[in-house]
Amino acid sequence: MHIRLSIFVVFLLASGTVDSKHKNHQRGEEPAFVRNLTNAQRSSFFGISKNPGISFQQKEDKLVKWAEANNLTEQYAEFYKNLQLHKEQRSKNISAVIERLAEAKVEVDKVNADLSLTKTQRDEKIDELKKTYPQEIPTIFHINSLFDHKGNGTRNGEGKQSKRKHQ
Ligand SMILES: *[C@@H]1O[C@H](CO)[C@@H](O)[C@H](O)[C@H]1NC(C)=O
Ligand SMILES: *[C@@H]1O[C@H](CO)[C@@H](O)[C@H](O)[C@H]1NC(C)=O
Ligand SMILES: *[C@@H]1O[C@H](CO)[C@@H](O)[C@H](O)[C@H]1NC(C)=O
Ligand SMILES: *[C@@H]1O[C@H](CO)[C@@H](O)[C@H](O)[C@H]1NC(C)=O
Repeated sequence: MHIRLSIFVVFLLASGTVDSKHKNHQRGEEPAFVRNLTNAQRSSFFGISKNPGISFQQKEDKLVKWAEANNLTEQYAEFYKNLQLHKEQRSKNISAVIERLAEAKVEVDKVNADLSLTKTQRDEKIDELKKTYPQEIPTIFHINSLFDHKGNGTRNGEGKQSKRKHQ
């Protein structure tokens, strides 16, 4: 449920521009409230929630009215509450990852600086670090990949290699 909801939150709140391919992919991941809607309700619900041209406050007001009109006030309130809790939790999770990033980077740097290691051993050490820093290590490799294709020297190739291995 948590994972389903988390994917859905991104889907619902991120930008409001979700293509149909994405939508089909997400259907099975939707929370019960959305899965329970009839096709007509679903399309009016998403017509409001994905409208990129109205403010978030307007969206919220419209959705409350939509829920009233569909006799779904209680269910919508519950859904909304869960969504807010989830957003708060996610925000805290992100803050925690950011706080640990610097120390995770120190550990990655130590591994990379140890020239006595083979490539295999280095990868094993990095995998080991991922147990302590499950979000931080992939985040560091993601940041690393942001600098791919920008340079024109050997660092470029190195970046690509880590990206392949660790993404
Ligand atoms: C979905 O529908 C079922 C069956 O009508 C109901 O028991 C359940 O409470 C509904 N869930 C939500 C979140 O609306
Ligand atoms: C909502 O409930 C009222 C009262 O039970 C009923 O008259 C109305 O038809 C319902 N509307 C919808 C859209 O289900
Ligand atoms: C927050 O992090 C915890 C621990 O990793 C995880 O179980 C939970 O699903 C996360 N919640 C969100 C909303 O990201
Ligand atoms: C290529 O690398 C050289 C030396 O680092 C640098 O001076 C130059 O600006 C780089 N060119 C591009 C297009 O990145």
